[in-house]
Amino acid sequence: MMFVDIDNKNCSFEKNQKLVENIRRLKKERNAIILTHNYQRPEIQDIGDHCGDSLGLCRIAASSNADVICFCGVRFMAESAAILNPGKKVILPAPEAGCSLADDLSIETLRTLKSKYPNAAVVCYVNSSAGVKAESDICCTSANAVQVVNSLKDYEEVLFVPDHNLGHYVSLHTDKKVYLAEVYCNAHHDLEKADAVRLKKLHPNAKFIAHPECKPEVLELADFVSSTSGMSKYVGDSGAREFIVGTEIGMVYRLQKDFPEYLFYPVSDKMICNDMKLITLERLAYSLETLTPVVEVPEKIRLKAKQALDRMMKIK
Ligand code: 13P
Repeated sequence: MMFVDIDNKNCSFEKNQKLVENIRRLKKERNAIILTHNYQRPEIQDIGDHCGDSLGLCRIAASSNADVICFCGVRFMAESAAILNPGKKVILPAPEAGCSLADDLSIETLRTLKSKYPNAAVVCYVNSSAGVKAESDICCTSANAVQVVNSLKDYEEVLFVPDHNLGHYVSLHTDKKVYLAEVYCNAHHDLEKADAVRLKKLHPNAKFIAHPECKPEVLELADFVSSTSGMSKYVGDSGAREFIVGTEIGMVYRLQKDFPEYLFYPVSDKMICNDMKLITLERLAYSLETLTPVVEVPEKIRLKAKQALDRMMKIK
């Protein structure tokens, strides 16, 4: 297994400072924008032009004037940026950064499911490959999945892929019949109900906020279920001062930075997506210096996948 220095302990302050200066200079020279997901390492979140959830970053990627989009996230996110921005160079500093959801649903499996449910609209979570998006009617993120499914007025049935838990959560908020795939996010699905129960006992005044990729029995215990940016909004609006965070550990840094006066407790220190931690300041600097590795999507697939993403973007 690859060693992931999540706390950046192997990097001295001076070295980090130098890298940060380099990255800022290169960003200007290349007319690049740095987009970082909420699960990235703290120092990567800090240097990004925008840090957000999948939907927010998709929207920014679609409206950006930069020549280069440097995506600090995982492959499917950079692919989405490439699908939406054919004229721009999209670089992903860690090209091996995958996602169990995107990697575990093949196009063949999707085609088999489609033939099993021929009357169902195919809704695919953005955590999917470009090929899967191209085979789908519409995309969604965790921030808009319920709205997307309910927007499909001409359909009574929906095939929701790949994430089983998010699809199950959507099925509780729609009258449509929802068919699911057997695919899960490792970081979220491994969270057990017992972990949430334990933390709630330890912090009885805290609100438990959870990502819909968690198991249904975990979500039942949550005060609020939402995407990562939805969590930020909830923390700002709820009036509470303590929160148990039921998503990938990077989000705790993001929340603590935005709300330094509040207390945040990770529901479990096992909720780590190693793929999200692969991008380091060194790799980011190298990527901007060399403008590699480039993420490209074959044109035929890109055009079809773009339709599914564009349909989603039309929904508020
Ligand atoms: P968000 O869209 O909520 O940021 O989630 C992305 C993700 O990959 C969750 O595992």
